[in-house]
Amino acid sequence: MIISIGEIREFFQVSKNTNFLPKVWLEIGFGSGRHLLHNAKNYPEILHIGLEIHSPSLEQVARQIGLLGLKNILILSYDARIFLEILPSNTLDKIFVHFPVPWDKQPHRRILSHTFLTQSARVLKEKGHLQLRTDSLDYFNYAKNLAQDFKTDFQIQSHVNAEEAIISKYEARWLRQNKDIYTLEFLALHSSTSRKLDFDFAFLDSAVQPLLFLPKNFQKTKIVQKDYFLHLEDLFISPCDSSSPPCLLKISFGDFNYPQTRYALQTNHLEYFKENPLPTYLNYKAHQQLLQLIQNDFSLYKES
Ligand SMILES: C[S@@+](CC[C@H](N)C(=O)[O-])C[C@H]1O[C@@H](n2cnc3c(N)ncnc32)[C@H](O)[C@@H]1O
Repeated sequence: MIISIGEIREFFQVSKNTNFLPKVWLEIGFGSGRHLLHNAKNYPEILHIGLEIHSPSLEQVARQIGLLGLKNILILSYDARIFLEILPSNTLDKIFVHFPVPWDKQPHRRILSHTFLTQSARVLKEKGHLQLRTDSLDYFNYAKNLAQDFKTDFQIQSHVNAEEAIISKYEARWLRQNKDIYTLEFLALHSSTSRKLDFDFAFLDSAVQPLLFLPKNFQKTKIVQKDYFLHLEDLFISPCDSSSPPCLLKISFGDFNYPQTRYALQTNHLEYFKENPLPTYLNYKAHQQLLQLIQNDFSLYKES
């Protein structure tokens, strides 16, 4: 069944709080779903979660899940580079990244990154494992290089042309072209400490807790810090004051490689429109920065 990011967060939170978490395997970028469906059919006691950003693939696999009557798969449309950040620690047994887009010319767009491996080490249970399969020698070497920083977190194994129980659509394509297939296995060596996931995204002045309101003198502002940014893009209905209709502040923020956009809505109070930012540390830092800007009357933040 197709599930939303909010539902999946709730699922993990409740499972964790009630100590009732099944074994969970996550497949990233499942495409035609061959490997995901194979696993769900053959491992009925496991909960299989599939992530895919290509909507037609998502819908096609959802239809197949229905036709096959599988009850142990949840699929969702979400960017894998952010997904792991919202999971509690020690929740996954396996992560599969099979034939990700190689992005040989823009490696910063790859799914595997230092952040991704940090998050994988956190969300995998002890002895859980992450498997990368790729036809790109460049990606394989890049991943092996990244792995150097994680020697205390993972035992790493690599294979060339290792066979799998099921051949995915892309693997079949590369095999027809007689390409080598590279596999990298990351076996988690330890469990991790739990991580704060309940960041507060309210618009309160932390000192005395009164509600904050948007200042009148809006100006477009971009603040770039070492690991995150905050961009105040636009204010709809300006000036924003008690006599005006509700106004919206458009903001983008978070990680440079996968920024998020939200609107802050001001009525008789200020809040994020529809949904809070995802509870990641970088988003929280960006939110804190926004509070500071609002308190400073939108004047440019100066590093103290
Ligand atoms: C080359 S295909 C491989 C599909 C499948 N794993 C296979 O082996 O046949 C890569 C898939 O990853 C998906 N994808 C790319 N970037 C993604 C991301 N950031 N998060 C989730 N899925 C992503 C694409 O939409 C595409 O379906």
